[in-house]
Amino acid sequence: MRKMPEVLPLQQTSSTNEYLANLWLTKPDALSPFFTVLANEQTVGRGRLGREWTAPAGTSMLASILVPADPDTASLLPLVAGVAAHTLISNLLPQNDVQLKWPNDVLVGGRKICGILCESLSEEWTVVGIGLNISQTIDQLPPVPSTSIVLEGGPSLDPSLLALAVAVGIQDLLELSPEQLHSEIEQRCSTLGCPVEVLLPSGDRITGTAISLDPRGALLVRDEFGTTTSVQAGDITHLILAEMTTVAPGGNL
Ligand code: BTN
Repeated sequence: MRKMPEVLPLQQTSSTNEYLANLWLTKPDALSPFFTVLANEQTVGRGRLGREWTAPAGTSMLASILVPADPDTASLLPLVAGVAAHTLISNLLPQNDVQLKWPNDVLVGGRKICGILCESLSEEWTVVGIGLNISQTIDQLPPVPSTSIVLEGGPSLDPSLLALAVAVGIQDLLELSPEQLHSEIEQRCSTLGCPVEVLLPSGDRITGTAISLDPRGALLVRDEFGTTTSVQAGDITHLILAEMTTVAPGGNL
């Protein structure tokens, strides 16, 4: 029988991703697969592409999970974690429009509710960090379109239960065959089929339609001339949603 992942609760830390990476370096024998660090508060929470992730103490789930993954699977982990978070949030908010925006932002009604940052430790291990807004009020959220579970009418659940649900969700997905996993991700990812604008880390922009994902999880975007670009990293704007609300790239900046 499978063991439940172990959860280490912390009152405050710099960043749960950093804390778990240090633990892995200094006490590797103390850690089992899917070991999870959970903080009430982070002082230097990290976001994607060098941004910050901030949340008032006790208002969100701030968790980092130690995930075993070979290099091929590791490139899919942002999407795998995104699917696990999307499943959890859809269950908490069954009446709402919950979307998974490539690679791994979860939005509710076009507003960001969850961000994910995967950081590789070695060829076998990756830290999957997840920030999920639970009980923030509008005033406690950043001035970019964001929301929380409670603002959307959902329950204010114990963050450790939510972290466990995501860790077990990732574990379940990693037991699928590569074909099943790819199809599960493609079914969940709302970006596919959308007209999008991509802001690449270089600062260049691409506009086109997101047509599919390659086996490593890169987003294939076809422009109006039929040229397809493979996007490994970048910020996506769903152009349909952008008419109603501009989704901030970083979320809790
Ligand atoms: C993003 O920019 O959307 C990713 C945000 C990831 C935030 C989480 S909070 C828990 C974990 N620890 C960190 O320092 N970052 C991640």
